Amino acid sequence: MNRQYQESRHVSKSISDKVVRNQSANAPFSSILEASLSRRSVTRGSLGAAVALMAGFSLSACGGDGDPIPVEPVKPVEPELKLGFTSLPNSMTHACVVPAGYTAHVLGAWGTPLNDNAAPWDRNGNNSSNDLLNSTGMHHDGMHFFPIDGSSTEGLLVVNHEYIDEFALHPAGPTKVAGKRPAEEVRKEINAHGVAVMHVRKQGSNWNIVLNSKYNRRFTSATPMRLAGPVGGTDFVKTPFSPNGTQVRGTNNNCGNGTTPWGTYITAEENWAACFLNTGTIPAHQKRVGVPSTKGRYEWETAAGDASEVNGEFARFNVTPSGADALSDWRNEVNGFGYLVEIDPYDPSSIATKRTAMGRFAHEGAAYGNPVAGQPLAFYSGDDSRFEYVYRFVSEAVWDPKDATRSDRLAVGAKYLDKGTLYVARFNDDGSGEWLALAPNTVGKGGKTLGAEFGNLDAILINTRGAADFVGATPMDRPEWTAVHPTNGDVYLTLTNNTSRNATTGTNAANPRLNNANGHIIRWHDASGSNAFRWDIFVFGAAAGANADTNRSSLTAVNQLASPDGMAFDSRGIMWIQTDNGLDGGRNNDVAKATNDQMLAVIPKPMSASTGTGPVINASNQAELRRFFVGPNEAEVTGIAFSPDNTSIFLNIQHPGNWPAYDTTDATALASGTVRPRSSTVVIQRTDGKPVGV
Ligand code: FEO
Ligand code: CA
Ligand code: CA
Ligand code: CA
Repeated sequence: MNRQYQESRHVSKSISDKVVRNQSANAPFSSILEASLSRRSVTRGSLGAAVALMAGFSLSACGGDGDPIPVEPVKPVEPELKLGFTSLPNSMTHACVVPAGYTAHVLGAWGTPLNDNAAPWDRNGNNSSNDLLNSTGMHHDGMHFFPIDGSSTEGLLVVNHEYIDEFALHPAGPTKVAGKRPAEEVRKEINAHGVAVMHVRKQGSNWNIVLNSKYNRRFTSATPMRLAGPVGGTDFVKTPFSPNGTQVRGTNNNCGNGTTPWGTYITAEENWAACFLNTGTIPAHQKRVGVPSTKGRYEWETAAGDASEVNGEFARFNVTPSGADALSDWRNEVNGFGYLVEIDPYDPSSIATKRTAMGRFAHEGAAYGNPVAGQPLAFYSGDDSRFEYVYRFVSEAVWDPKDATRSDRLAVGAKYLDKGTLYVARFNDDGSGEWLALAPNTVGKGGKTLGAEFGNLDAILINTRGAADFVGATPMDRPEWTAVHPTNGDVYLTLTNNTSRNATTGTNAANPRLNNANGHIIRWHDASGSNAFRWDIFVFGAAAGANADTNRSSLTAVNQLASPDGMAFDSRGIMWIQTDNGLDGGRNNDVAKATNDQMLAVIPKPMSASTGTGPVINASNQAELRRFFVGPNEAEVTGIAFSPDNTSIFLNIQHPGNWPAYDTTDATALASGTVRPRSSTVVIQRTDGKPVGV
């Protein structure tokens, strides 16, 4: 069994798209290496600049004994928020590690029944497709806790199920009969993807799923969903299933997430393109997202023609034009994927809705800017591939705080998310930046408008990456999660890594390291009511022992990190950073050789509105970045949610190697012998029941 899992590591534990699909000439591709090298000495966020700024905007200085000493006097009424745990050492075991005084429990590992239609999870992999339809899915990722009546002990935990490990899912991995995937196996895989809504309740100190709750739901890669916004109802998305182009079956490869100010969940479709196949002439917009030409990722298309197939449920993954028009083949099926999808967890009868106005790409997640009454709303979303971009959607409607408490939540979603302008970011080397509108009248290459080059807004949105190329956006080092500070509105973005950034592609000030194996976190502050922003780099990932040019934030053994990915602020202003470092090639970098993936905490101080800079992690304050959690071997740590009172925090362990242990919910327990690995949510609490982290 173990050998199968080890093999699976090589075939299915990573679905990130490593191919550079951005062939535009946007900087840095057009930049001169010499110029970028000379810039590196004055990179924003570099040590010198940061130390100079410490005078005005202080984190805290670090005493010789490692204890933080506040530089500024503590305000009398409001004690300064401070982390209250000791940074964890490196760990490389098959178990989770939390600080002293904390507990960690497994909740809703894949295959956990949500209702009585599912058989209990089977250690030998024999659960059916119907079991998976009524259980939690695989490869937990983005997540949010929606309280019921404001409770911190009962709520709806919504979890993305990003992709699958076929070897853990089936008794002995995927099979094929005469070149075809068996229909039941394919349905089981499709049902293991998507999103789960779990009604959860705390009894004593244990969180459990409320079995058979009316709120428990699964959205899979086959669940019918609405297509709303400019692309919905257009010729791009008309299929035999939805001749008027208003619906599509399924959401796929749901990675990070977002929420809205009106209490809905947003699930982000990331590496969906590889699930399809086009053996014909691949249109430009499919090429730009990487639709394969030889086979789909799991070869779901090979089950087409099975006697049990309903309405092309398998054939739709082959988008090669074969009939007379779009209603006689599945050429448009792939155009129904690549969106942010809004889900109302509180209404079990609601239909998930794809908000096409927010763009179509490998969405990592979506964080919203702090709402201001009478002003438009902003949502930020990274496109996670090498040299791709970061986007901002701005609503046409202005925020009405009364909408926060309406019960017709998806109608509120339509009001703010179906009409607006999608922008893409350009980061200038002088610390300024600009949001470039992806609108028909925006002038791009050669003085030509986007409308003249691509057509109407629906055509621009279908090929969002191509449109962003055309207006000169800045190619980034794999934009993952965004997070917005709850009071000052600074926006943070994880740039996970980019080992393809080399002498030919060049660097820019926002992505300043060649062969960026460790990633960094950039942040910006949008000028109110404008498309301008100021940015700086908050922290550079690096191994503690790396040279100063790599370890620019002076990280140490107890906070060295690489490949920052998941990231969120809690309501208090603590920023939680999660890593996905082991995935891309095992223990092949110095951080992965020292520790498993982890979650760290830090309390960032605000950027200055005028200079666009602020205190960043550097030699004088690096102890303020503390490691709070380490995951088990081979796993990525991702997804984060909080009870309203912050006494319970939830995170996800994705693709562990030999975890969790059988017959216990203790996430810190080592398995005895080999177990069938299960991605799972982990709930972390203090033994004294007080808020986590402080
Ligand atoms: Fe699914 Fe970009 O992480
Ligand atoms: Ca992942
Ligand atoms: Ca991710
Ligand atoms: Ca990642």
